[in-house]
Amino acid sequence: PLVITSACIDVKDGICTTSCPVDCIYEGERMFYIHPVECIECGMCESICPVDAIRYADEVSEAEQEFVRINNDVFYDA
Ligand code: SF4
Ligand code: F3S
Repeated sequence: PLVITSACIDVKDGICTTSCPVDCIYEGERMFYIHPVECIECGMCESICPVDAIRYADEVSEAEQEFVRINNDVFYDA
């Protein structure tokens, strides 16, 4: 799936949700999260985020790795 990383925190632009054909981007308290199973990896959300917070899971930087886990755990209790 694609994942949302730290740049979304306290920014929450929200435009990414309008690009998702399967509505799998969900609002959390301080950021949005992508559902790891519902995401069909269309890539539409990646380019539209104004702060470049969205990445393919396998392209997330070393420093942002925990967000791969976070986007999963918010839907599937850790
Ligand atoms: Fe939605 Fe596509 Fe982004 Fe996945 S890659 S969250 S399906 S817009
Ligand atoms: Fe966050 Fe960017 Fe979406 S800031 S809410 S990932 S458009």
